[in-house]
Amino acid sequence: MMESQLAELKASALARIAAAASAAELEVIRVEVAGRKGSQLTELSKGMGKVPPVDKGRIGKLFNETKTAIESALDARQAAFADAALNARLDAEWFDLTVPPPGVRPGALHPITIIQKEIEDLFTSMGFTVLSGPEVETEFNNFDALNIPPDHPARDMQDTFWLEGGHLLRTHTSPVQVRGMQRLGPPLRMIAPGRVFRNEEVDPSHEHTFYQLEGMMVDREVSVAYLIYYMKTLLQGIFKREVTVRLRPGYFPFVEPGFELDIQCLLCGGKGCPVCKQSGWVELLPCGLVHPNVLRLGGIDPEQWNGFAFGLGLTRLAMMRYAIDDIRHLQGGDLRFLRQFA
Ligand code: DAH
Repeated sequence: MMESQLAELKASALARIAAAASAAELEVIRVEVAGRKGSQLTELSKGMGKVPPVDKGRIGKLFNETKTAIESALDARQAAFADAALNARLDAEWFDLTVPPPGVRPGALHPITIIQKEIEDLFTSMGFTVLSGPEVETEFNNFDALNIPPDHPARDMQDTFWLEGGHLLRTHTSPVQVRGMQRLGPPLRMIAPGRVFRNEEVDPSHEHTFYQLEGMMVDREVSVAYLIYYMKTLLQGIFKREVTVRLRPGYFPFVEPGFELDIQCLLCGGKGCPVCKQSGWVELLPCGLVHPNVLRLGGIDPEQWNGFAFGLGLTRLAMMRYAIDDIRHLQGGDLRFLRQFA
């Protein structure tokens, strides 16, 4: 009686275990067949009391064997389900370690910053100090101290954004010359990169906001030869190749004599394009020997000292270097443009 019941239970339990379609279904079977309370095995064990003493040992052993067979079948099937679940996850959840993380991109320097840093390195290696001045300036520093008298037409050369109280957005980096002379005194070697502003019609080669780099050297016997030497060193450092330049007389109230140093347009090679306004040349480096009035207004005795100065168009330079054909890209904030320099 007991023997056949055990054999039946074993057969039906193993068949159900083999047929279980999921781990959850298997768990239901475990509870019904082998659970502690009210399971088929527990119920059968209650019949052990009625087994005649002679059969007890044999039937007891058979019961244990049946129980063990069912439990190991349950465990094996459970392990198989766990394995299958893990394999399914491993198949589904793969990722490519070489793909860049989404949304995160390394930052990079703006092309103007790249050039500015290069020029700073070049000039500091030649003993120049890097100065910065405020973007909001006094009329005195922006104009008067640079030998531009109140009614002089030169003020019209630079369309100024005027602020309240006689202040203005600096139209050039030259006011930092004034601050440098006053603060450091002679002898003096300084450069001053920075942002400048002009109330201008915006087009492919004009912006209301752009960057310049001012330079000034004051010493006992500075000549045009010094100026040419430093300007050549500067241009060779920037372009790392031969560039064609020309020197023309240029008028700026703060220098005498004043020059325009032009370079042949690197974008079109001198053939003519929108950036060089079809002329083949780009005005890059106005410069000259510092006017005695400027030295005097900077607190330096022009009988004892003289110097040269230059004003480099950093924005224009960046456009030349990177063949950028529209100045508006530089401050447009379009990441597609900026990422090209990363
Ligand atoms: N400040 C001038 C401008 O923005 C550029 C300039 C010309 C600066 C001649 C200089 C210089 O130092 O010597 O147009």
